[in-house]
Amino acid sequence: MDTINQGILLKKGAEASLYLIEWYGRKAIVKVREPKRYRPEALDNRIRSYRTIHEPQLIHEAKCAGVSTPLIYMVNVEEASIVMEYIEGPQIKKLLNTTNREKREILCNEIGKSVARLHNYGLIHGDLTTSNMIKSFQDKIVFVDFGLGEKNGELEAKGVDLHLLKRSMQSTHYRFWEQCFQNVLKGYTSVLGVKISEKVYEKIKEIEKRGRYVEERRQ
Ligand SMILES: Nc1ncnc2c1ncn2[C@@H]1O[C@H](COP(=O)(O)OP(=O)(O)O)[C@@H](O)[C@H]1O
Ligand SMILES: [Mg+2]
Repeated sequence: MDTINQGILLKKGAEASLYLIEWYGRKAIVKVREPKRYRPEALDNRIRSYRTIHEPQLIHEAKCAGVSTPLIYMVNVEEASIVMEYIEGPQIKKLLNTTNREKREILCNEIGKSVARLHNYGLIHGDLTTSNMIKSFQDKIVFVDFGLGEKNGELEAKGVDLHLLKRSMQSTHYRFWEQCFQNVLKGYTSVLGVKISEKVYEKIKEIEKRGRYVEERRQ
């Protein structure tokens, strides 16, 4: 793709490479899912095209759910690339580690509200980490990276989604993860209501118990 040649490589991840380019006078991101040689070619092509179509669909649905996501400018299934709006601003991961307690609480509350809006709409993000959230200069928390997401209204899926966020906060924000996650749950409850939220929290506990059981069996 010509546009990529003039772009700056921002990240070469396990799943995709991200380039910063100029797109008709605007800054844009190209997310390319490069071929994986370890997979049979036909299967690899199927996986990459599926995810390339699937991610923008979920990004669109998240907007319908009331959650900020980048605008999609173009999808090229053959090249497995997505051109989208570049969100300027710090990753929530960095912000949480550098800001004060009060601002952290407000941010986490907002994160919880957004996750609840996704769940309320039957959407699962699939990779809820604070690296996949950006605080835009328009002061919104923008969610990215829906490649592992799905439409799923089940309690189990909601529990797993939040459990992943908890785990990611424990490892990236270990000094104050409890305060962070508590405020995520506060925001979540304020949108979904106490009754449903309680059920999700029970699910998280159950998932954690299962995890511990597996750990004990391993020892
Ligand atoms: N539209 C965007 N604007 C600004 N930064 C982005 C955008 N999309 C992704 N990023 C940044 O690049 C990182 C990697 O992108 P991501 O879509 O999460 O790829 P991966 O699937 O490899 O994790 C994200 O964690 C985010 O910080
Ligand atoms: Mg990511």
